Amino acid sequence: MRKNFFINMGLKSKLILTMSSIFILFSLVLFLISQNAQKRLIKEMEENIDDLTKAIQVSVEKLTSEEQKNPEVLKELIMKFKKKGINEISILSESREIIASTNPKKIGLIAKSTKDSDFLIKAELGVKSKEEYIKTINVPIIIGDENYGYINIVMHLENLTDIQKRNFYLRLFTTMLIFIFGTTIIIYLADKYTKPIHMIVDATKRVSKGDLTPIGIDISLGPEIKDLVVNFNQMIEKLKERQILENKIKKMEHIYQIGQLSSAIAHEIKNPLNFINLAIDQIKDELKQIDTEAKAIELLKAVGSEIDRINNLVHHFLEYGKPLKLNMEYINLLQLFKDIEKIIKTKTDDLNIKIDFNIDKNINFLGDKEKLAGCFLNLFLNSIDSIKSDGFIIITGMKKNDKIIIHFRDSGHGIPEMIAEKIFEPYFSSKDTGMGLGLAFTRKILIEHGGDIWLNKEYKNGAEFIISIPTNI
Ligand SMILES: Nc1ncnc2c1ncn2[C@@H]1O[C@H](COP(=O)(O)OP(=O)(O)OP(=O)(O)O)[C@@H](O)[C@H]1O
Ligand SMILES: [Mg+2]
Repeated sequence: MRKNFFINMGLKSKLILTMSSIFILFSLVLFLISQNAQKRLIKEMEENIDDLTKAIQVSVEKLTSEEQKNPEVLKELIMKFKKKGINEISILSESREIIASTNPKKIGLIAKSTKDSDFLIKAELGVKSKEEYIKTINVPIIIGDENYGYINIVMHLENLTDIQKRNFYLRLFTTMLIFIFGTTIIIYLADKYTKPIHMIVDATKRVSKGDLTPIGIDISLGPEIKDLVVNFNQMIEKLKERQILENKIKKMEHIYQIGQLSSAIAHEIKNPLNFINLAIDQIKDELKQIDTEAKAIELLKAVGSEIDRINNLVHHFLEYGKPLKLNMEYINLLQLFKDIEKIIKTKTDDLNIKIDFNIDKNINFLGDKEKLAGCFLNLFLNSIDSIKSDGFIIITGMKKNDKIIIHFRDSGHGIPEMIAEKIFEPYFSSKDTGMGLGLAFTRKILIEHGGDIWLNKEYKNGAEFIISIPTNI
């Protein structure tokens, strides 16, 4: 339950909780360290003061006794004091000459003093230390009205400084430790939160390639990431639904086109059938007369050609209804156009139609070479039909991102606005002999490649078609 509570917390709350915990921990540790250091300091100070009090007490007792100048007594005294950290005791005369000392070398010397005073006792407290840690105190000894002189106490405070130093290092160390601890938690959290984001980035790439598998929801994910994953999966679901819908629409479009084709075919079939019927009736009549063999043969030829036309219509109808199977291969765009040019060259030369290519020779793509050649050949034939004679066809090809854009322009009579909407419909033709399937097939094949073809209505000096094909590489 508790664990779940932490897992379900947002990143912001988690960070606030972590930082607050670190702050509380840090304050607590610092408090304990300073408490400890304070205790040690007080203890050290107490010991020093204790020593100092004892030194004064003992010194005064000795000073007021008769044996005060006896070095043996002093030695005894120092033995006691050494245990307390007092290293040296000297007794000075009024003229500041050391008359007795635990350090025999000092006897007879004049004690140095910053003050113009007389030292009776010189005491050192603490372990010997450097100049900067030494504190000197002068205490006057007055018994009755008589000033016996001064007690000079030298205190070595290195121990106190040591405590402070230790305290500082301890604080530094704990600060570092808590900092490392905090950083580790934050790195862990950052890692935990960025990992699922990488996972989602990978999934996005997968989706863009068409793989619509949802992401698995991990219980340990934070609520924000969980939300993101849930939304992402919902998006995938919607994409799936859309894909299904698109497929349905494609099928319906196909059925609609087939329906259109069927009615066009029925209409087209009716004409030759009527003609065939009439022709057969005429043949019957003609055959009754003897010398009409030649005429009958002519009529039978016409019947044959009408039957061919029906055959052709049915063949294309079946072709159009079939789903296309593309045989993909690498194609060089310029080479493809040059190959088609070879087929029509004699015709264009005869009609004085100039063909110009403005295509980068490095444009390569994946496609069905044969079917695309058929598409472009139909565009050439349409342009030739439109130009009739003396004119030009210009083809420009360029690569834009992952697409190839082709402009196919001719100097023919152009396409009137009235029929511009119909030219891609199957069986629409303005020509006597045209089937009206060229552009319909061309568009179908290009769409199957993931591309398209449309008429540039802005171009008025002829016709211009624009074609897009994905490179698929
Ligand atoms: N370059 C062009 N210039 C002028 N009109 C054109 C051009 N290309 C196509 N068209 C018009 O579009 C119509 C449809 O063309 P499409 O190629 O589909 O059929 P078609 O050429 O008539 O017959 P076919 O099935 O033999 O190709 C043409 O009949 C013509 O009216
Ligand atoms: Mg055509």
